[in-house]
Amino acid sequence: MSKILVVGCGYVGLTTAVGLAELGHRVMGYDLDTNLISRLSSGVPTIYEPGLPELLVKNTQSGVLSFTSSVTNEGPDFDLVFLCLPTPSREDGTANLTYLTSAVSQVRILLTEHTTVVIKSTVPVGTAKLIKSLVPEGVTIASNPEFLREGSSVYDFFHPNRIVIGAQGRVAPKSLLTAYENFSVPIVVTSHETAELIKYSANAFLAIKISFANELAFLSERTNSDIDDLIYAVGLDTRIGINHLNPGPGWGGSCFPKDTRELLATAQKLGVPMQTLQAAVSSNERTMEALAGRILSLVDSIETTPVVAILGLAFKAGTDDVRESPSTKVAELLSGAGLSIKGYDPLVVKSGSFAGVLCSSIDECLAGSHIAVLMTDAEEFRVIDPTDVLRLMVTPQVLDTRRILGAASWASSGITHHSLGFQEV
Ligand code: UDX
Repeated sequence: MSKILVVGCGYVGLTTAVGLAELGHRVMGYDLDTNLISRLSSGVPTIYEPGLPELLVKNTQSGVLSFTSSVTNEGPDFDLVFLCLPTPSREDGTANLTYLTSAVSQVRILLTEHTTVVIKSTVPVGTAKLIKSLVPEGVTIASNPEFLREGSSVYDFFHPNRIVIGAQGRVAPKSLLTAYENFSVPIVVTSHETAELIKYSANAFLAIKISFANELAFLSERTNSDIDDLIYAVGLDTRIGINHLNPGPGWGGSCFPKDTRELLATAQKLGVPMQTLQAAVSSNERTMEALAGRILSLVDSIETTPVVAILGLAFKAGTDDVRESPSTKVAELLSGAGLSIKGYDPLVVKSGSFAGVLCSSIDECLAGSHIAVLMTDAEEFRVIDPTDVLRLMVTPQVLDTRRILGAASWASSGITHHSLGFQEV
């Protein structure tokens, strides 16, 4: 059992803290946000993650997991200090490391030669060296990037495909190996720089894969092909794989956009043009623009101001996170073209930068609209009753960007059904 401090209790830090506590370690979560800390201390989750509430309550009640917004009165005997701070994009695409470096100075007092500082944040190549220069002599640094997907981060914590550890001399600190001793997956021990680059490379490749799938969807429409059969058959090749090959309205979220921008900026700085990645980023922008263009064309015969009902505002189903969501981007383009926008998402209660009216139900969103655009494959959207659509919409037509609505049954209900990846009927 290790004594662990997790610095930063956001999406990654909270899941990491709860997961390590569940593995039997003694964990303290630290964050400057006193409101967040008081909620977590009373077992109230601050993010939507399936499985998190139960583990948070269980481990705070048993006392193995606690939270604090001040570490000054803690003894300096943590075996591991995990850094789980955000590294958001700056204007030029490079990662802003100020949250990380300021966190290091806040906990520096606790660091001794018995402590290993574990960088879990997604950080540019060379950051471990920077952190090493900020901690007292003798403190060990390890890089340990996470591969958690929002909406399934608890599952992903307990079922990693691999554990990556970057360490001086490629010798993983024993205390870190102990933290992961329950896992029976490959542990890749490498240099700090390699571990840092592995994280960006993995996300960049997933983004490239999705961009390619989205382009195939547009091509399927022009060749009268079936995108679902196409993706399925291509993905059955084990060298390709079906996962993250599913076309949609474009990729978004707090990771892919940030990480692809950072990798491109780093490559640019080092004089290594990454044209495949650049093309995937541009392709993703084009997907969202093409989607907005298609919606405009589907309502261009409406005499009054067309009303667009956007179903799914988060960047994907299963999360309440709207950061860099394709829905936000498409709504912005449509609003800029003078359309009126309404939006609904089962998990999103704050509209953020969504350029439309946030509705509290599907019906409220559909009412009076001229087109419904399905942007995430949320369970609730799979079971929409076409008769409701007929009753509520002015012109009953739907654009299904995730291909979850049964085209035939919707068309037979008298609703014009469009979906990405199939030839317009
Ligand atoms: C991603 C990585 O998957 C995860 O390993 C990393 O740690 C963080 O970034 P996340 O951003 O939570 O996780 O979302 P993910 O499920 O990967 O989806 C990212 C975007 O791609 C979403 O907008 C999603 O809708 C889109 N997507 C995903 C597709 O369009 N098609 C797919 O097949 C998969």
